[in-house]
Amino acid sequence: MCRFFIISCLFVFCLQSKASPLSIQSPDKSLSLFVKVDSQGRPSYWLNSEDTPLILPSTLGISVKGEIDFNRDFVINDYRIDTINQPWERLWGEGKQVENHYTSLSINLEKTTTPVRKINIEFRLFNDGLGFRYILPKQPELSEILIMSENSEFTLSGEEIAWWTPQDFDSYEHIHRQTKFSDVEAVNTPITLKLPSGHYVSIHEAALTDYAGMTLVKKGDATLVSELVPWPDGIKVKGSAPLTTPWRTIQFAENAAGLINSPLLENLNLPNRISDTSWIKPMKYVGIWWGMHMRKYTWEAGPKHGATTENTKAYIDFAARHGIGGVLVEGWNKGWETWHTPLNQQDFTQAYDDFDLLELAQYAKHNGVTLIGHHETGGNIPEYERQLEDAFALYRKAGVHALKTGYAGAMRPTGTYHHSQPMVNHYRHVLTLAADNQIMLNAHEPIKPTGLRRTFPNMMTREGGRGMEWNGWSKGNPPEHTVSLPFTRLLAGPMDYTPGIFDIRFDRQGQYRIHTTLARQLAHYVTLYSPMQMAADMVENYIDHAAFTFIENVPTSWDETQVQHAEIGDYYVVARRDGQKWFVGATTDEHPRQLPLNFSFLLEDKQYVARIYSDGDDTDYTSNPEAFEYVNVVVNKHSEIPLVMASGGGVAIEIDPLLDKHEGTLNAQQYTQKVAHRLASFEKGGHFGEVIKVHHLAENKSVTLKPTPHRNYSDDGAITLIDGERGSADYTSQWLGFRNIDFTATIDLGERQKVKQISAGFMQSILHSIMFPTAVTFDVSSDNERFTTVGMETYETTADVPDFQRKDFTAEFSEQDVRYIRVTATSLGVLPDWHIRPGQEVFIFADEIIVN
Ligand code: NOJ
Ligand code: CA
Repeated sequence: MCRFFIISCLFVFCLQSKASPLSIQSPDKSLSLFVKVDSQGRPSYWLNSEDTPLILPSTLGISVKGEIDFNRDFVINDYRIDTINQPWERLWGEGKQVENHYTSLSINLEKTTTPVRKINIEFRLFNDGLGFRYILPKQPELSEILIMSENSEFTLSGEEIAWWTPQDFDSYEHIHRQTKFSDVEAVNTPITLKLPSGHYVSIHEAALTDYAGMTLVKKGDATLVSELVPWPDGIKVKGSAPLTTPWRTIQFAENAAGLINSPLLENLNLPNRISDTSWIKPMKYVGIWWGMHMRKYTWEAGPKHGATTENTKAYIDFAARHGIGGVLVEGWNKGWETWHTPLNQQDFTQAYDDFDLLELAQYAKHNGVTLIGHHETGGNIPEYERQLEDAFALYRKAGVHALKTGYAGAMRPTGTYHHSQPMVNHYRHVLTLAADNQIMLNAHEPIKPTGLRRTFPNMMTREGGRGMEWNGWSKGNPPEHTVSLPFTRLLAGPMDYTPGIFDIRFDRQGQYRIHTTLARQLAHYVTLYSPMQMAADMVENYIDHAAFTFIENVPTSWDETQVQHAEIGDYYVVARRDGQKWFVGATTDEHPRQLPLNFSFLLEDKQYVARIYSDGDDTDYTSNPEAFEYVNVVVNKHSEIPLVMASGGGVAIEIDPLLDKHEGTLNAQQYTQKVAHRLASFEKGGHFGEVIKVHHLAENKSVTLKPTPHRNYSDDGAITLIDGERGSADYTSQWLGFRNIDFTATIDLGERQKVKQISAGFMQSILHSIMFPTAVTFDVSSDNERFTTVGMETYETTADVPDFQRKDFTAEFSEQDVRYIRVTATSLGVLPDWHIRPGQEVFIFADEIIVN
């Protein structure tokens, strides 16, 4: 299967003249790489597409402890150029056949100073981009290597647009930002850039092995330079010669769509090293999971325990009925009481008393379903490593072939970063152990993907980005996020985003929701690739739901992928093939949008039925996001239909060769007519990002506060309380925060009037020490001197209140001559005993005093 051609091979010994650079071209000649050593002996490279510069001259090097830097005083001792063509086939993925054709340039550098020091730099230039890496060969008196910094530079023009997440040594779970390149400071990778020429590049790394994760920081106006994540003692990498670094990668495409199918990272990894792969099976899965994020269940045992034998059987039954391959169960093992406490200690071999692992594994197997194991380390690495062998042996005994891991919590040993070398090695250790035990892996809070899935095809999927769960308990993911992910985080590899929430407005108080329509949730199965793809909602929300058929039918591995429309952060339309069937996913940002879909990917002279799940006439982002339309349309290779999407909306299509003549109810033209008016109505409807407006008597009247709010949480000053806009789940805007104190707001309505109701909104976020008041008192007055109490609502808050939940404290009464209104909130004083920080200071957060 694997063809291996070395087309040309050139071996040169020389001392390169300082003036002329070495250069190679990609196999299709579109990209050219130049490498030279400047007058100070510093190696540098630059990259062009035709005559357009992509990366301007950028220097390379490494600084090693106790050594003169491996950055300067070098000459090129010899170099070698090869052309290699070695296509391969994926076991699973976004397409079966992988082109792997490149020109390589390996240069051996030697110091002109003593002691003689050597470093090799290897470049591989593909049609879709460049990879380069350093090799520190064995050399006298350099056996232990402590890397203090790596200085790989990427110099751009400064005029680019960039999509990026901020540098963070512990988490990748940030919303992607779109800024001018000049506004970028420090980033995690991948960072994707649109050049003034219209070309795109994305900078990341491949084959991250026994090394620190790379972040990038801005140097000057237009250069990004590598910054490695340190060990607790500040050293970046500890190793010995010969030491090979990961590949630094620059993916290239002429347009955004072109980025999608780049196998560059996988090509820079070694071929599959697992010989028997019969147990590696891409699949969809359901799980006892969202129920915990929804506060319906708990991870720990107790009256609301989710992971009971009974509940797991119900999930297995559901999976078996609907052809879903796996059932994830979180909270099955003892120790969850200690999660997020100073001593987090999970027991990975002891199930809670109400969960029978061996029986359930059997029950699942009997029903043709795989149980998916779960290990939440909480960051306590020494404890996990102590139990690893036993934990894997238990799953092996039970016949469990899939595992989700988690690293949510403060890392131990203290001071260790998630993305540092010791953790890179830990994640690899778990991956190889999983391979040895025939276990497919899905890692959360992982190290970033760097193409290792080629070498270890049991490295199925991972989080490493902001997933669905954030919608459960924060202001959530804007629709733009999931139209940025395919061009940023997903360029690095599959993501366990966990789509498929059907109960879009799950929070009946309206504080949280999913920021999409329901049809969009289906489209994510095609737009956000993962070989283990979750149907993330609680199974009760799928029962008898017509849209679930799409999830049942959508594959998790593809023969081929074709992008039809793409603009990063705006829209994405992609078609993927599995056998004779095609599936299309279309997504938009907050703007309603109409895009044409052509079916040129279909075979000539064949009729197909397109089963279209889309936003329908009655879909509205705000008031009716759950509404979707299902229509069958007969199409062929020459058909075209409009895809019409509401704000945060989408379209999901399953296309099958037409077998039954009567299956199609519409032709393409009829469908086009049917949806012709829809964009206009979506534009008039609700949109993501609109603030919830409330009109009331106190709106924009004068208000005095005692005391003033905390300076970090003062938003628009006192105005915030009466501006007619209700703060959402984002506590950093549209809320006023008061630290450790009661506060009083007095509103002057300007004239005496009849008032029947006053309410004031407060927020609780246990994690952020923001607690509801214990009481809110409402007083009214006609002269600002004699006040009458018209209501007081007391409240005893509990640990159950979800983070960022809003509660309106209200008084109902009837008074004729009201001009002044006084609202007093009484603070808890200090955090309660059940809080993780008992006795410490507490905040009250308030927004919108509504007077009617
Ligand atoms: C964070 C993971 O991303 C989430 O999926 C999981 O439920 C929790 N940690 C608990 O392990
Ligand atoms: Ca997470």
